[in-house]
Amino acid sequence: MLQYQRPTGTLDTLPEDQHYWDHVRARARHLAELAGFERIDVPVFEATELFARGIGTGTDVVDKEMYTFTDKGGHQLTLRPEFTAGVVRAYIENGLYVRPQPLKLYSFGPTFRYDRPQAGRYRQFTQFNAEILGEQDPAADVEVMAMVWDLYDGLGFRDLEFQLNSTGCPRCRPGYLAVLKAYYAEHIGEICEDCRRRLEHSPLRVLDCKADQCQPVIAGAPHFLDHLCDECTEHFGALREYLDLLDRRYTINHRLVRGLDYYTKTVFEVWAAGIGAQAAVCGGGRYDGLAEILDGPPTPAVGVAVGLERIILVMKDLDVDVPPTPTPSVFLAHLGPQAKWEELRLMDALRQAGVAAWIAFGERGLRSQLREADKRGVRYTIILGEDELAAGLATVRDMKAGEQVGVKLGDLVEWLKARV
Ligand code: HAM
Repeated sequence: MLQYQRPTGTLDTLPEDQHYWDHVRARARHLAELAGFERIDVPVFEATELFARGIGTGTDVVDKEMYTFTDKGGHQLTLRPEFTAGVVRAYIENGLYVRPQPLKLYSFGPTFRYDRPQAGRYRQFTQFNAEILGEQDPAADVEVMAMVWDLYDGLGFRDLEFQLNSTGCPRCRPGYLAVLKAYYAEHIGEICEDCRRRLEHSPLRVLDCKADQCQPVIAGAPHFLDHLCDECTEHFGALREYLDLLDRRYTINHRLVRGLDYYTKTVFEVWAAGIGAQAAVCGGGRYDGLAEILDGPPTPAVGVAVGLERIILVMKDLDVDVPPTPTPSVFLAHLGPQAKWEELRLMDALRQAGVAAWIAFGERGLRSQLREADKRGVRYTIILGEDELAAGLATVRDMKAGEQVGVKLGDLVEWLKARV
């Protein structure tokens, strides 16, 4: 066993996997920009209090999963478990609410949760996050949903479908919670220990319980959709119409409640096969009250976050073809110190001209250098020795055709530029 290993629940992304990441990030950025999203970067750590208030004490994320520490100045800080609270903090702190609304903001970056590690579940993972701030129109909800749909669709995911629900607003939620609690009171002997606790501090979460014994109780539980106020009913109805209009399939999932307290009205996820049961590749929803909770102006908003590691797992599972990251197609081999100098100059000139090239390090025989060129899979190997220098020519070996030609040293950069 090695003494130094990566921490449990973290990943090394090796060079051979980077093309998946480049591809997904490029697609996501393209789709965000098509919809007018602008990039925002926020700190990797924030005051712990921001997440405690924004996401809510009582949630698993805040109570069990945060990486919290005290810095040398005595400040309580937390590695961000998600983007939304930080983005809304930045929106308020930088006065972005005075800009033309709605404001559309996207981000990429690492997020941290002390989760139970398993396939597709990590302690450091990467989110693509998108928020529309300052808009209550359900068309905004559809816009973020359509954007992630298009991301998955373009990456080759099949049988896409949203899990969709509404969790109401401060007007209708107390009424529903009263009905839910009354129902659970009748079944209190049948539910798990955790759910008894959840009923106290985050009652909606009982609907999300995975314990076998709770399943029959959940199946019979009252539905939030039957208890929405008129405004929430209308919003949800319009959202469904828009999703139908744009042909983005969804299933109403009365049990979908999400693990963050800021949600109001719309909540949704996309689940994908291949990464364990019910693993969400994205989650999002509306959070009309969050800006005010964080002492900002009333700001209706909706957003989504996509877990990039999970997407890449699915892409691998589906054998999605991704263009490989290009590597240099020129190798510079040399014999003798004079030739090495010339090749260092050539390497520099090729870089300036934008031609990618490897140079042989060390003093080695030609055979060893050609073996390296072959392993690196280059198209052309440039060979410079005393004879070539004397003639002012380089020998260029076409590794594919197995042929060699002489090219004037002064013409070599242009010659290669035209061919690679
Ligand atoms: P979330 O559902 O907690 O939502 O996380 C979003 C996505 O991050 C998940 O669907 C999943 O793909 C990925 N994810 C979460 N935890 C892990 C993990 N331990 N390992 C790997 N991937 C994970 C949010 O974070 C909200 N801030 C989304 C949002 C934005 N709502 C409104 N705006």
